[in-house]
Amino acid sequence: MGVIQNTQIVLAERPVTDIDLKKTFKIQKVSLSDELGPNEILVKVIYISLDPAMRGWLRDVRSYIRPVRIDEVMRSADITQVIKSNNPDYKVGDIVRATCGWQEYDVLKPSDDIVKVKTFPGVSPSTYLGVLGITGLTAYFGLFEIGEIAKKGGPDCTVVVSGAAGATGSVAAQIAKHVFGCRVIGIAGSEDKCDYLTKELGLDVALNYKSKTFFKDLCAATPKLIDIFFDNTGGDILDACLRRIAFKGRIIVCGAISTYNDAVPKGPAYYSALITQRARMEGFIVFDYAKQYGKAVEDMSKWIKEGKLKSRETIISGIENTPEALVKLFNGDNTGKMLVKVAEEETKSKL
Ligand SMILES: NC(=O)c1ccc[n+]([C@@H]2O[C@H](COP(=O)([O-])OP(=O)(O)OC[C@H]3O[C@@H](n4cnc5c(N)ncnc54)[C@H](OP(=O)(O)O)[C@@H]3O)[C@@H](O)[C@H]2O)c1
Repeated sequence: MGVIQNTQIVLAERPVTDIDLKKTFKIQKVSLSDELGPNEILVKVIYISLDPAMRGWLRDVRSYIRPVRIDEVMRSADITQVIKSNNPDYKVGDIVRATCGWQEYDVLKPSDDIVKVKTFPGVSPSTYLGVLGITGLTAYFGLFEIGEIAKKGGPDCTVVVSGAAGATGSVAAQIAKHVFGCRVIGIAGSEDKCDYLTKELGLDVALNYKSKTFFKDLCAATPKLIDIFFDNTGGDILDACLRRIAFKGRIIVCGAISTYNDAVPKGPAYYSALITQRARMEGFIVFDYAKQYGKAVEDMSKWIKEGKLKSRETIISGIENTPEALVKLFNGDNTGKMLVKVAEEETKSKL
Protein backbone atom coordinates (compact mmCIF):
# COMPACT_ATOMS: atom_id res chain seq x y z
CA MET A 1 0.00 0.00 0.00
CA GLY A 2 1.26 3.50 -0.82
CA VAL A 3 0.39 6.97 0.34
CA ILE A 4 0.05 9.94 -2.02
CA GLN A 5 0.49 13.58 -0.99
CA ASN A 6 -2.67 15.30 -2.24
CA THR A 7 -2.97 19.08 -2.53
CA GLN A 8 -6.53 20.28 -1.98
CA ILE A 9 -8.23 23.67 -1.92
CA VAL A 10 -11.10 23.93 0.54
CA LEU A 11 -13.69 26.60 1.31
CA ALA A 12 -12.49 28.55 4.36
CA GLU A 13 -15.03 31.38 4.63
CA ARG A 14 -18.17 32.36 2.70
CA PRO A 15 -17.69 35.66 0.84
CA VAL A 16 -20.49 38.21 1.17
CA THR A 17 -19.49 40.09 -1.98
CA ASP A 18 -16.33 39.52 -4.04
CA ILE A 19 -14.17 36.43 -3.45
CA ASP A 20 -11.24 37.37 -1.22
CA LEU A 21 -8.13 35.53 -2.39
CA LYS A 22 -6.64 35.76 1.11
CA LYS A 23 -9.72 34.52 3.00
CA THR A 24 -12.25 32.58 0.92
CA PHE A 25 -10.21 29.45 0.22
CA LYS A 26 -7.33 27.68 1.90
CA ILE A 27 -4.85 25.23 0.48
CA GLN A 28 -3.94 22.05 2.36
CA LYS A 29 -1.92 18.90 1.85
CA VAL A 30 -3.42 15.60 2.95
CA SER A 31 -2.30 11.99 2.65
CA LEU A 32 -4.36 9.74 0.43
CA SER A 33 -4.03 5.97 0.61
CA ASP A 34 -3.85 4.28 -2.79
CA GLU A 35 -5.45 1.13 -1.41
CA LEU A 36 -8.65 0.67 -3.40
CA GLY A 37 -11.94 -0.94 -2.40
CA PRO A 38 -13.99 -3.12 -4.77
CA ASN A 39 -14.53 -1.40 -8.15
CA GLU A 40 -12.77 1.79 -7.06
CA ILE A 41 -10.36 3.76 -9.22
CA LEU A 42 -7.61 6.21 -8.29
CA VAL A 43 -7.45 9.22 -10.61
CA LYS A 44 -5.17 12.20 -10.98
CA VAL A 45 -6.76 15.47 -12.01
CA ILE A 46 -5.54 16.88 -15.34
CA TYR A 47 -7.92 19.85 -15.88
CA ILE A 48 -10.29 21.71 -13.56
CA SER A 49 -13.30 23.51 -15.05
CA LEU A 50 -13.92 27.04 -13.74
CA ASP A 51 -17.55 28.12 -13.79
CA PRO A 52 -19.27 31.33 -12.66
CA ALA A 53 -21.88 29.15 -10.92
CA MET A 54 -19.19 28.29 -8.36
CA ARG A 55 -19.80 31.70 -6.80
CA GLY A 56 -23.37 30.57 -6.09
CA TRP A 57 -22.16 27.32 -4.50
CA LEU A 58 -20.34 29.41 -1.88
CA ARG A 59 -23.62 30.88 -0.61
CA ASP A 60 -25.60 29.07 2.05
CA VAL A 61 -28.93 29.46 0.25
CA ARG A 62 -31.52 27.28 -1.47
CA SER A 63 -30.36 26.46 -4.97
CA TYR A 64 -30.29 23.68 -7.57
CA ILE A 65 -27.37 22.05 -5.76
CA ARG A 66 -26.33 22.09 -2.09
CA PRO A 67 -23.76 24.70 -1.08
CA VAL A 68 -20.12 23.69 -0.62
CA ARG A 69 -19.51 23.25 3.10
CA ILE A 70 -16.87 25.05 5.10
CA ASP A 71 -13.64 22.97 5.07
CA GLU A 72 -14.95 20.88 2.15
CA VAL A 73 -12.91 20.56 -1.06
CA MET A 74 -14.27 23.13 -3.52
CA ARG A 75 -16.56 21.40 -6.03
CA SER A 76 -15.69 21.34 -9.76
CA ALA A 77 -15.99 19.19 -12.84
CA ASP A 78 -12.61 17.78 -13.79
CA ILE A 79 -10.92 15.80 -16.49
CA THR A 80 -8.89 13.09 -14.79
CA GLN A 81 -6.74 10.11 -15.72
CA VAL A 82 -6.95 6.69 -14.10
CA ILE A 83 -3.63 5.82 -12.42
CA LYS A 84 -4.76 2.71 -10.51
CA SER A 85 -7.86 0.61 -11.01
CA ASN A 86 -9.81 -2.06 -9.23
CA ASN A 87 -12.55 -1.88 -11.82
CA PRO A 88 -12.46 -3.86 -15.08
CA ASP A 89 -14.40 -1.10 -16.89
CA TYR A 90 -11.72 1.54 -16.17
CA LYS A 91 -8.14 0.86 -17.24
CA VAL A 92 -5.01 2.69 -16.17
CA GLY A 93 -4.57 5.61 -18.60
CA ASP A 94 -8.31 6.04 -19.31
CA ILE A 95 -9.60 9.61 -19.29
CA VAL A 96 -12.59 10.15 -17.00
CA ARG A 97 -14.76 13.21 -16.41
CA ALA A 98 -15.69 13.42 -12.72
CA THR A 99 -16.55 15.85 -9.96
CA CYS A 100 -13.39 15.56 -7.88
CA GLY A 101 -13.17 19.25 -7.06
CA TRP A 102 -10.07 21.34 -6.52
CA GLN A 103 -7.56 18.63 -5.67
CA GLU A 104 -4.81 16.65 -7.34
CA TYR A 105 -6.05 13.09 -6.74
CA ASP A 106 -9.26 11.32 -5.85
CA VAL A 107 -10.62 7.83 -5.32
CA LEU A 108 -13.86 7.26 -7.24
CA LYS A 109 -16.57 4.64 -7.24
CA PRO A 110 -18.77 3.78 -10.25
CA SER A 111 -21.74 5.20 -8.30
CA ASP A 112 -20.04 8.62 -8.36
CA ASP A 113 -21.01 10.79 -11.32
CA ILE A 114 -18.22 9.66 -13.67
CA VAL A 115 -18.06 9.41 -17.44
CA LYS A 116 -15.33 7.69 -19.45
CA VAL A 117 -14.25 10.07 -22.20
CA LYS A 118 -13.42 8.76 -25.67
CA THR A 119 -10.29 10.58 -26.75
CA PHE A 120 -9.38 11.30 -30.36
CA PRO A 121 -6.08 12.43 -31.86
CA GLY A 122 -6.10 16.23 -32.17
CA VAL A 123 -8.97 16.68 -29.69
CA SER A 124 -7.78 17.68 -26.22
CA PRO A 125 -9.63 15.93 -23.38
CA SER A 126 -10.31 19.45 -22.03
CA THR A 127 -12.87 19.79 -24.86
CA TYR A 128 -15.10 17.59 -22.68
CA LEU A 129 -15.26 20.37 -20.09
CA GLY A 130 -15.85 23.00 -22.76
CA VAL A 131 -17.69 22.77 -26.03
CA LEU A 132 -18.42 19.01 -25.65
CA GLY A 133 -18.98 19.30 -21.91
CA ILE A 134 -21.49 21.02 -19.65
CA THR A 135 -20.62 24.38 -21.23
CA GLY A 136 -21.58 23.38 -24.77
CA LEU A 137 -24.60 21.44 -23.51
CA THR A 138 -25.81 24.56 -21.70
CA ALA A 139 -25.69 26.58 -24.90
CA TYR A 140 -27.44 23.79 -26.82
CA PHE A 141 -30.32 23.16 -24.41
CA GLY A 142 -30.79 26.83 -23.64
CA LEU A 143 -31.24 27.59 -27.32
CA PHE A 144 -33.30 24.53 -28.22
CA GLU A 145 -35.48 24.05 -25.15
CA ILE A 146 -35.96 27.59 -23.87
CA GLY A 147 -35.28 29.66 -27.00
CA GLU A 148 -37.08 27.17 -29.27
CA ILE A 149 -34.58 28.06 -31.95
CA ALA A 150 -35.56 25.11 -34.13
CA LYS A 151 -39.01 26.76 -34.55
CA LYS A 152 -37.93 30.40 -34.67
CA GLY A 153 -34.43 30.30 -36.24
CA GLY A 154 -33.56 31.57 -39.72
CA PRO A 155 -32.38 34.78 -41.41
CA ASP A 156 -35.37 36.79 -40.11
CA CYS A 157 -34.61 35.87 -36.52
CA THR A 158 -32.42 38.26 -34.53
CA VAL A 159 -30.50 36.59 -31.71
CA VAL A 160 -28.50 38.52 -29.12
CA VAL A 161 -26.03 36.72 -26.85
CA SER A 162 -24.42 38.30 -23.79
CA GLY A 163 -21.10 36.97 -22.49
CA ALA A 164 -20.63 36.04 -26.13
CA ALA A 165 -16.84 35.61 -26.02
CA GLY A 166 -17.12 33.33 -23.00
CA ALA A 167 -17.40 29.56 -22.97
CA THR A 168 -21.18 29.17 -23.11
CA GLY A 169 -21.95 32.35 -25.03
CA SER A 170 -19.52 31.61 -27.85
CA VAL A 171 -21.15 28.22 -28.45
CA ALA A 172 -24.70 29.63 -28.30
CA ALA A 173 -23.83 32.45 -30.71
CA GLN A 174 -22.22 30.09 -33.23
CA ILE A 175 -25.11 27.60 -33.16
CA ALA A 176 -27.56 30.46 -33.78
CA LYS A 177 -25.41 31.87 -36.59
CA HIS A 178 -23.92 28.87 -38.37
CA VAL A 179 -26.50 26.16 -37.72
CA PHE A 180 -29.72 28.22 -37.89
CA GLY A 181 -28.56 31.14 -40.06
CA CYS A 182 -29.92 33.79 -37.66
CA ARG A 183 -28.70 37.39 -37.49
CA VAL A 184 -26.50 37.20 -34.40
CA ILE A 185 -25.25 40.03 -32.25
CA GLY A 186 -22.66 39.17 -29.60
CA ILE A 187 -22.06 41.32 -26.53
CA ALA A 188 -18.65 41.29 -24.79
CA GLY A 189 -16.45 43.44 -22.57
CA SER A 190 -13.54 44.48 -24.80
CA GLU A 191 -12.70 45.51 -28.36
CA ASP A 192 -10.41 42.46 -28.71
CA LYS A 193 -13.26 40.16 -27.75
CA CYS A 194 -15.57 41.97 -30.20
CA ASP A 195 -13.00 41.41 -32.99
CA TYR A 196 -12.83 37.73 -32.05
CA LEU A 197 -16.63 37.47 -32.32
CA THR A 198 -16.92 39.00 -35.77
CA LYS A 199 -13.60 38.06 -37.38
CA GLU A 200 -13.06 34.57 -35.99
CA LEU A 201 -16.53 33.35 -35.07
CA GLY A 202 -18.31 35.10 -37.93
CA LEU A 203 -21.07 36.87 -35.96
CA ASP A 204 -22.90 39.70 -37.74
CA VAL A 205 -22.21 42.36 -35.12
CA ALA A 206 -20.31 42.53 -31.81
CA LEU A 207 -20.97 45.21 -29.20
CA ASN A 208 -18.81 46.26 -26.27
CA TYR A 209 -21.11 46.70 -23.27
CA LYS A 210 -18.50 48.92 -21.61
CA SER A 211 -18.82 51.52 -24.38
CA LYS A 212 -20.66 54.73 -23.49
CA THR A 213 -22.76 54.29 -26.64
CA PHE A 214 -23.72 50.67 -25.87
CA PHE A 215 -27.50 51.14 -25.79
CA LYS A 216 -27.46 53.31 -28.91
CA ASP A 217 -25.28 50.69 -30.64
CA LEU A 218 -27.65 47.93 -29.56
CA CYS A 219 -30.62 49.84 -31.01
CA ALA A 220 -28.75 50.35 -34.30
CA ALA A 221 -27.81 46.65 -34.44
CA THR A 222 -31.37 45.45 -33.80
CA PRO A 223 -33.58 47.38 -36.26
CA LYS A 224 -36.08 44.49 -36.16
CA LEU A 225 -35.74 44.14 -32.37
CA ILE A 226 -34.61 40.94 -30.58
CA ASP A 227 -36.39 37.64 -31.13
CA ILE A 228 -34.15 35.54 -28.88
CA PHE A 229 -31.86 36.87 -26.15
CA PHE A 230 -29.45 34.30 -24.68
CA ASP A 231 -28.46 35.98 -21.41
CA ASN A 232 -25.35 35.02 -19.49
CA THR A 233 -24.88 38.27 -17.59
CA GLY A 234 -28.13 39.80 -16.29
CA GLY A 235 -27.85 43.35 -14.89
CA ASP A 236 -27.77 46.37 -17.19
CA ILE A 237 -27.30 44.24 -20.33
CA LEU A 238 -30.51 42.35 -19.55
CA ASP A 239 -32.31 45.66 -19.06
CA ALA A 240 -31.01 46.98 -22.38
CA CYS A 241 -32.22 43.83 -24.17
CA LEU A 242 -35.61 43.92 -22.42
CA ARG A 243 -36.04 47.38 -23.93
CA ARG A 244 -35.40 45.88 -27.40
CA ILE A 245 -37.35 42.62 -27.02
CA ALA A 246 -39.62 41.81 -29.98
CA PHE A 247 -43.28 40.83 -29.84
CA LYS A 248 -43.38 37.22 -28.47
CA GLY A 249 -39.60 37.37 -27.98
CA ARG A 250 -37.80 34.83 -25.79
CA ILE A 251 -35.23 35.57 -23.09
CA ILE A 252 -33.16 32.53 -22.16
CA VAL A 253 -31.99 33.14 -18.61
CA CYS A 254 -28.82 31.08 -18.63
CA GLY A 255 -26.78 33.07 -16.13
CA ALA A 256 -26.44 36.42 -14.40
CA ILE A 257 -22.72 36.77 -13.71
CA SER A 258 -22.95 40.55 -13.26
CA THR A 259 -25.00 39.95 -10.10
CA TYR A 260 -23.26 36.91 -8.55
CA ASN A 261 -20.99 38.95 -6.28
CA ASP A 262 -23.74 41.29 -5.07
CA ALA A 263 -24.82 40.89 -1.46
CA VAL A 264 -28.33 41.86 -2.58
CA PRO A 265 -28.73 41.63 -6.39
CA LYS A 266 -30.89 44.23 -8.08
CA GLY A 267 -33.63 43.08 -10.42
CA PRO A 268 -34.31 44.18 -13.99
CA ALA A 269 -36.04 47.56 -14.21
CA TYR A 270 -37.61 47.02 -17.63
CA TYR A 271 -39.35 43.68 -17.05
CA SER A 272 -42.75 45.17 -17.90
CA ALA A 273 -41.61 44.84 -21.54
CA LEU A 274 -42.53 41.17 -21.05
CA ILE A 275 -46.13 42.28 -20.61
CA THR A 276 -46.34 44.83 -23.40
CA GLN A 277 -44.54 42.56 -25.90
CA ARG A 278 -46.13 39.30 -24.65
CA ALA A 279 -42.57 38.05 -24.35
CA ARG A 280 -41.27 35.21 -22.20
CA MET A 281 -38.25 35.03 -19.93
CA GLU A 282 -37.35 31.58 -18.62
CA GLY A 283 -34.49 30.13 -16.64
CA PHE A 284 -33.13 26.60 -16.88
CA ILE A 285 -30.46 24.30 -15.47
CA VAL A 286 -28.61 22.15 -17.99
CA PHE A 287 -28.69 19.07 -15.71
CA ASP A 288 -32.44 18.74 -16.35
CA TYR A 289 -31.62 17.56 -19.89
CA ALA A 290 -29.11 14.85 -18.90
CA LYS A 291 -31.08 12.14 -20.71
CA GLN A 292 -30.59 14.03 -23.99
CA TYR A 293 -26.85 14.74 -23.64
CA GLY A 294 -25.89 11.95 -26.08
CA LYS A 295 -27.80 13.44 -29.02
CA ALA A 296 -26.52 16.94 -28.21
CA VAL A 297 -22.86 15.81 -28.13
CA GLU A 298 -23.42 13.98 -31.44
CA ASP A 299 -24.84 17.15 -33.03
CA MET A 300 -22.09 19.37 -31.68
CA SER A 301 -19.30 16.96 -32.69
CA LYS A 302 -20.74 17.07 -36.22
CA TRP A 303 -20.85 20.89 -36.20
CA ILE A 304 -17.23 21.01 -35.00
CA LYS A 305 -16.20 18.73 -37.89
CA GLU A 306 -18.15 20.93 -40.34
CA GLY A 307 -16.32 24.02 -39.06
CA LYS A 308 -19.53 25.55 -37.64
CA LEU A 309 -18.34 25.50 -34.04
CA LYS A 310 -14.95 26.84 -33.00
CA SER A 311 -13.68 27.11 -29.47
CA ARG A 312 -10.92 28.72 -27.47
CA GLU A 313 -9.61 27.95 -24.03
CA THR A 314 -7.87 30.11 -21.45
CA ILE A 315 -5.64 27.79 -19.44
CA ILE A 316 -3.92 28.68 -16.18
CA SER A 317 -1.34 26.27 -14.78
CA GLY A 318 -1.00 25.00 -11.23
CA ILE A 319 -3.64 23.90 -8.73
CA GLU A 320 -2.58 26.68 -6.33
CA ASN A 321 -3.79 29.23 -8.91
CA THR A 322 -7.35 27.85 -9.07
CA PRO A 323 -8.97 30.47 -6.77
CA GLU A 324 -7.36 33.23 -8.83
CA ALA A 325 -8.63 31.60 -12.03
CA LEU A 326 -12.17 31.76 -10.62
CA VAL A 327 -11.78 35.45 -9.82
CA LYS A 328 -10.45 36.04 -13.34
CA LEU A 329 -13.77 34.84 -14.79
CA PHE A 330 -15.45 37.74 -13.02
CA ASN A 331 -12.83 40.14 -14.40
CA GLY A 332 -13.39 38.92 -17.96
CA ASP A 333 -9.81 37.64 -18.28
CA ASN A 334 -10.91 34.59 -20.23
CA THR A 335 -11.87 34.11 -23.84
CA GLY A 336 -13.71 30.81 -24.26
CA LYS A 337 -13.48 28.15 -21.58
CA MET A 338 -11.51 28.93 -18.40
CA LEU A 339 -9.51 25.93 -17.15
CA VAL A 340 -6.74 25.16 -14.71
CA LYS A 341 -4.19 22.59 -15.82
CA VAL A 342 -3.15 20.57 -12.78
CA ALA A 343 -1.00 17.86 -14.34
CA GLU A 344 0.13 16.51 -17.68
CA GLU A 345 -1.81 13.67 -19.23
CA GLU A 346 0.44 10.58 -19.41
CA THR A 347 0.61 8.37 -22.46
CA LYS A 348 -0.73 4.93 -21.49
CA SER A 349 2.67 3.28 -22.04
CA LYS A 350 4.26 5.47 -19.32
CA LEU A 351 1.70 4.55 -16.67
N1 LIG B 1 -28.17 27.55 -16.54
C1 LIG B 1 -27.20 26.65 -16.56
O1 LIG B 1 -27.41 25.44 -16.49
C2 LIG B 1 -25.79 27.14 -16.71
C3 LIG B 1 -24.73 26.23 -16.93
C4 LIG B 1 -23.44 26.75 -17.12
C5 LIG B 1 -23.23 28.12 -17.06
N2 LIG B 1 -24.28 28.96 -16.81
C6 LIG B 1 -24.10 30.41 -16.76
O2 LIG B 1 -23.64 30.83 -18.02
C7 LIG B 1 -22.89 32.02 -17.88
C8 LIG B 1 -21.56 31.87 -18.62
O3 LIG B 1 -20.78 30.88 -17.98
P1 LIG B 1 -19.39 30.40 -18.62
O4 LIG B 1 -18.92 29.24 -17.84
O5 LIG B 1 -19.58 30.27 -20.07
O6 LIG B 1 -18.44 31.63 -18.28
P2 LIG B 1 -17.72 32.59 -19.30
O7 LIG B 1 -18.77 33.31 -20.08
O8 LIG B 1 -16.68 31.84 -20.05
O9 LIG B 1 -16.95 33.61 -18.36
C9 LIG B 1 -17.58 34.63 -17.72
C10 LIG B 1 -17.58 35.91 -18.57
O10 LIG B 1 -18.56 36.78 -18.04
C11 LIG B 1 -18.24 38.10 -18.39
N3 LIG B 1 -18.53 38.99 -17.26
C12 LIG B 1 -17.95 38.98 -16.04
N4 LIG B 1 -18.49 39.97 -15.27
C13 LIG B 1 -19.40 40.59 -16.05
C14 LIG B 1 -20.29 41.70 -15.82
N5 LIG B 1 -20.33 42.34 -14.65
N6 LIG B 1 -21.08 42.07 -16.85
C15 LIG B 1 -21.05 41.44 -18.02
N7 LIG B 1 -20.23 40.39 -18.30
C16 LIG B 1 -19.43 39.98 -17.31
C17 LIG B 1 -16.75 38.15 -18.74
O11 LIG B 1 -16.62 38.48 -20.12
P3 LIG B 1 -16.52 40.03 -20.63
O12 LIG B 1 -15.06 40.29 -20.81
O13 LIG B 1 -17.29 39.99 -21.89
O14 LIG B 1 -17.11 40.90 -19.55
C18 LIG B 1 -16.29 36.71 -18.50
O15 LIG B 1 -15.34 36.29 -19.44
C19 LIG B 1 -22.73 32.26 -16.39
O16 LIG B 1 -23.64 33.24 -15.97
C20 LIG B 1 -23.06 30.90 -15.79
O17 LIG B 1 -23.53 31.01 -14.48
C21 LIG B 1 -25.53 28.49 -16.64
